[in-house]
Amino acid sequence: MALRPYIVGNWKMNGTRAMLSEARAIDRSAQRLMKVEVALAPPFTLIHAVHREAEQIGIGAQDCHAKADGAFTGDVSAAMVADAGAKFVILGHSERREGHGETDADVQAKAAAALDAGLKLIVCCGETLATREAGGAVAHVTAQLEGSLPDTIDNAGERLAVAYEPIWAIGTGRTATVEDVAEMHRAIRALLIARYGEEEGSLVRILYGGSVKPDNARELLSTDEVGGALVGGASLTAESFLGIVMAAVDMQDA
Ligand code: 13P
Repeated sequence: MALRPYIVGNWKMNGTRAMLSEARAIDRSAQRLMKVEVALAPPFTLIHAVHREAEQIGIGAQDCHAKADGAFTGDVSAAMVADAGAKFVILGHSERREGHGETDADVQAKAAAALDAGLKLIVCCGETLATREAGGAVAHVTAQLEGSLPDTIDNAGERLAVAYEPIWAIGTGRTATVEDVAEMHRAIRALLIARYGEEEGSLVRILYGGSVKPDNARELLSTDEVGGALVGGASLTAESFLGIVMAAVDMQDA
């Protein structure tokens, strides 16, 4: 049976305790919207506080280190974010790949550490505009995932989500066409089935990310093989984030 649509807010480097009221409002609404799985990934500093506020939504981290502990100044391990209340971690976001030089192998090592700590994963992938215009988007993204995803996962359908986020669509107001999203998500689905088997590979939710807003969510979410959304800017207020959640609810009802 297909899992519920998964709508995840990635707050990136935004948010102080003043934003806890937004998280609370999102959580209270999510309690009435059980047909959709709603989650937030606040910055490390807010994980515990959001976890304490939240009764319904999932809480996650935006990164973790590949090692369990040690002399890594400024880093945070998977066990630490789990201890703070995180249930999942976003890994391999393009802002980490570009800004921190993370390689596919780094992402794969972090994924192994996160699974060891009992966390679920959202593994991100996506191409630059130059790669898309050169016609290499699908090959690039599938190669990225080949190198970034764990070789095996127990219950992959439950524990793994993949987020396709074209880099040129992040924070730009541009979104990929539904045809391009469908083509990419079908390629990702084929890879997941090849890697984790028909049953589990078919269950893994493939999220779309990149300028998802309340007014384009319905079209994107109804695209073939789109199992949810990873939302940046529009997740920062309850009003806009819940607009996206409602689009997913309406589609379930349709
Ligand atoms: P925007 O929704 O702000 O484009 O960000 C998308 C993203 O990078 C989510 O991880």
